[in-house]
Amino acid sequence: MLIAHIADLHVSADGLPVHAIVDTDAATRAVIAAVNAARPDVVVVAGDVTHGGEDAAARRARDLLAGLEAPVYVCPGNHDRRDALRAAFGRRPDDRDDAWMAYAVDDLPVRLIAMDAATDDPMVGALPEAQVAWLAARLAEQPERPTAIVLHHPPFDTGIDWLDQIGISEGRHRLGDVLAAHRNVRALLCGHLHRPMRGTWYGTPVIAAPSVMDRVAFVGTHADGSPITAIDAPPGFALHRVPEGDWLPETCFMNGHSEAWQAAMPDPWAE
Ligand SMILES: [Fe+2]
Repeated sequence: MLIAHIADLHVSADGLPVHAIVDTDAATRAVIAAVNAARPDVVVVAGDVTHGGEDAAARRARDLLAGLEAPVYVCPGNHDRRDALRAAFGRRPDDRDDAWMAYAVDDLPVRLIAMDAATDDPMVGALPEAQVAWLAARLAEQPERPTAIVLHHPPFDTGIDWLDQIGISEGRHRLGDVLAAHRNVRALLCGHLHRPMRGTWYGTPVIAAPSVMDRVAFVGTHADGSPITAIDAPPGFALHRVPEGDWLPETCFMNGHSEAWQAAMPDPWAE
C-alpha cells in the first residue's frame, strides 16, 4: 500500500498568492501532478487545506484536489474551519461531533483515523478529553490492525520556539497514553511545521510532511534577533510505503514552485 501524505496547502479564497508572494494554487497543482505520478492508493491531507478558512477557499481547495486520481481524506489544521471543510468535502458518516472533525477509513489495508486538534484560536491546538476517548474507542474496535492517525499538529516539541507555542497545548499526553496502549498505531501523519520532521510520541512514530506552501527554517535569527520563520524552498510531500504491515516512509521533494520550471525538467518518475 502506498499512502501519499500532503499538508499545508494554504489555498486562498480568491486564488491570489498568499502573503502576496506564495502562489499556493501553483504549488498545489505541482504537488498533485507529482503525487499522481507516484500512483498512491490514497492521499491524506494533514490540515491547513486553506489559508484563511473561508468557504470559498475550501471549495477552491476541493476543486484543485479533484485533480488527484486516488481517494482523498482531509483533516483540519489551525488555518481551517471544520464547517467549511465539511461543506466542501462532505461529512463522513462517523464524523458526528460538531466540536471536532474525526473519522475512520476502514476500506484500506492500513486503517486511517483522522483527528482534529484545531480550536477557534489558530494560535492554540488542543485535543479534548472526549476526542481522545473517541479515539480509544475506535482503536478498541480493531486492536490488531495496522493503523495510521492523521492529525495536523505533531504532539512533540520541535525546538522551534514559535512553532511549539502554537502546538497542542492540552491533551497531547492523554493522546500519548492511548498510543502507548495501542502498538498497532504505526504512525501519526502530521503537518503544521512546514518542514519535514520525524520523532516519536510515547513510542509511536510521528512524521510531519514538508508543506505544499513553503518551508520553515529550523534555526536561525535575523540581525535584530527575531527568529527566521520561513525560507524559500520547494513544495514537497511524503510517501509512505507499507508492505506487509511494515512502515517505510519516504520523503519526496519537488524542485521549484514554478510550473514552467517543472515542464522544462525531465520527468523523474518516468519508467
Ligand atoms: Fe500551515
